Amino acid sequence: MDLFLKPRMLYSVEDNLSKKVLSNQQSIHPNLARVSNKHKDLLKYQNPIGAETTRILKATQEQIERSAKPLVMDCGCGTGESAIRLAKKLTDHTIVAIDKSSHRLSKAKKYSPLPENLIFLRANLPEIWLYAYRHKWNIKKQYLLYPNPWPKQEQLMRRWHAHPIMPYLLSSSQNLELRTNWKIYALEFAWVTQYFLNKKVEVHSWLPKHPISNFELKYLKSGHKLYRVNIVKDD
Ligand SMILES: C[S@@+](CC[C@H](N)C(=O)[O-])C[C@H]1O[C@@H](n2cnc3c(N)ncnc32)[C@H](O)[C@@H]1O
Repeated sequence: MDLFLKPRMLYSVEDNLSKKVLSNQQSIHPNLARVSNKHKDLLKYQNPIGAETTRILKATQEQIERSAKPLVMDCGCGTGESAIRLAKKLTDHTIVAIDKSSHRLSKAKKYSPLPENLIFLRANLPEIWLYAYRHKWNIKKQYLLYPNPWPKQEQLMRRWHAHPIMPYLLSSSQNLELRTNWKIYALEFAWVTQYFLNKKVEVHSWLPKHPISNFELKYLKSGHKLYRVNIVKDD
């Protein structure tokens, strides 16, 4: 019994800590400018949106319109803690929180009853951003909290700022906040945003008093530095 318990206990302690991001990339990716230039033409990304996603988003849009409250989105919300915090803080807003993992989303149930101004959606983010752009959603602010960094140099195209959806993502939203524990991700995100919006975008070191999400909590406990890119279009 002892032999079984000890490694499991050790495993769960280690599991709570997170390794710093390791990368074979030491600065902004050398192909980022070329990739961004390719994506500058908005109409190049024309992927179809699935019938089920369209049905869900149509219903969500009706719900948002009925509420007549400004829309805030938590994109890649994971287990939902940040979305719940935002909904409790911004009671006069509708919060739409999206993740592709139904397993992660299901964990938010433990916080029931959930705030009435919060809508969880299981969906693929590029489809959401494309739909939001096509249907002229007026998104007051989007949060992109700790997206998967895809830190290997050869994984550039998996990062959101190198995805052809990036110009749609930027154009649907008045304000946007990215948080990450990998400085290069923040620098690249800021660079691409500056390139598309033609305005100065900065990266700030960030030490939150109260962690907003599960990953923010995990990274803080693990002693990681955190970075934030805050894009305010209407200043
Ligand atoms: C590192 S976790 C961060 C979760 C949460 N934002 C946090 O800070 O705790 C990244 C999340 O993005 C979600 N994700 C990744 N790609 C996605 C996509 N294409 N569409 C929707 N969600 C996605 C993952 O399922 C995961 O929950």
